[in-house]
Amino acid sequence: MAGASTLPADFLLSRRVQEMVINGEEPASLYICRDEKEDQNGPFPLAPIPIIDLSLFSSSTTISAEREEELQKLKSALCSWGCFQAIGHGIPTSFLDKIRQVTREFFEQPMEEKKKYSKGVGEVEGYGGDPTPEEGQFLDWQDRLFLTVYPEDLRDTKFWPDTPKSFREVLEYYTTKMRMMTETVSKSMAKSLQLEENCFLNQFGERAVLSARFNYYSCCPRPEIVLGLKPHADGTGYTIILQDDVEGLQVLKEEQWFTVPTIPDALLVLMGDQMQIMTNGIFKSAVHRVVTNKEKERTSVAVFYTPEKQKEIGPEEGLVNEETPRLFKNVKDYEIVHWEYYQRGMRALHTAQV
Ligand code: OGA
Ligand code: NI
Repeated sequence: MAGASTLPADFLLSRRVQEMVINGEEPASLYICRDEKEDQNGPFPLAPIPIIDLSLFSSSTTISAEREEELQKLKSALCSWGCFQAIGHGIPTSFLDKIRQVTREFFEQPMEEKKKYSKGVGEVEGYGGDPTPEEGQFLDWQDRLFLTVYPEDLRDTKFWPDTPKSFREVLEYYTTKMRMMTETVSKSMAKSLQLEENCFLNQFGERAVLSARFNYYSCCPRPEIVLGLKPHADGTGYTIILQDDVEGLQVLKEEQWFTVPTIPDALLVLMGDQMQIMTNGIFKSAVHRVVTNKEKERTSVAVFYTPEKQKEIGPEEGLVNEETPRLFKNVKDYEIVHWEYYQRGMRALHTAQV
């Protein structure tokens, strides 16, 4: 299409990145990132993110010294990287492959089929892309399907795909597995900090929200100047990410971008701002982004674990004392403020500082 580089945002937003790629279009100027001076091409080192075996925390046969050592490893991973690769989570690799497969199958359907689940203007859930960008912000080279999965009464099933046929069933099962995993992870994190094991679960509340974001990163003809997902920290408590076998996710550590290795049976558990608040700054909310790839499409499924709506959360009392004074205020529905800042390409964590 002539003049493709100056197309207005509203027009671009009515279309999906996948459509533009199928039509052989070059990325329009709104997709070119402006605030990234360095070359996106790297090479980027692989991140040596610790691999934690969650089965050591839940099994009664684990020797306590072994469990203690794994807890220390967990704590150290969350203080330095703000994330860890979880194995031993009880979800068979064959089922993880099934999720990867239905995700791919959903996005590989014709556009008319996917558009049945399109999100409306201002809506969060459904199939779509970025909302209208704020002044000076660029768009991400990706399409997504966003669904609230728990509590069940918050589900809006009109956005849940009928096809591929097994999609709903797979997502329902994954949701139950994610509930079990968040329980194990939240308890283990508490124990690693010598806190009462249910303290984070109590802060998240019984109606803590799980939502699933299925991401599809199309091949990009200009990977050096276009990002799949701009740098950000999540506004969640924490996020559990299922990657496929295509690298692309990167985490920032000491001003260096590292590529997160893809491990078939692992789930990446990444701290969001609200865990940084609850741990009074001990665990780090990891800044991350996704780079694009010229040859291969990439899919991922991010499950966001966020405190119950309207529930106040704040630094655990046991982590606040004279030596480590309170760094954050109590907040509620922090993810809403986070989203406003995110759209302006900014972090929101300072709004929670004392
Ligand atoms: C996100 C995210 C990473 C990925 O959805 O917030 O960071 O690998 N996703 O897609
Ligand atoms: Ni993220």
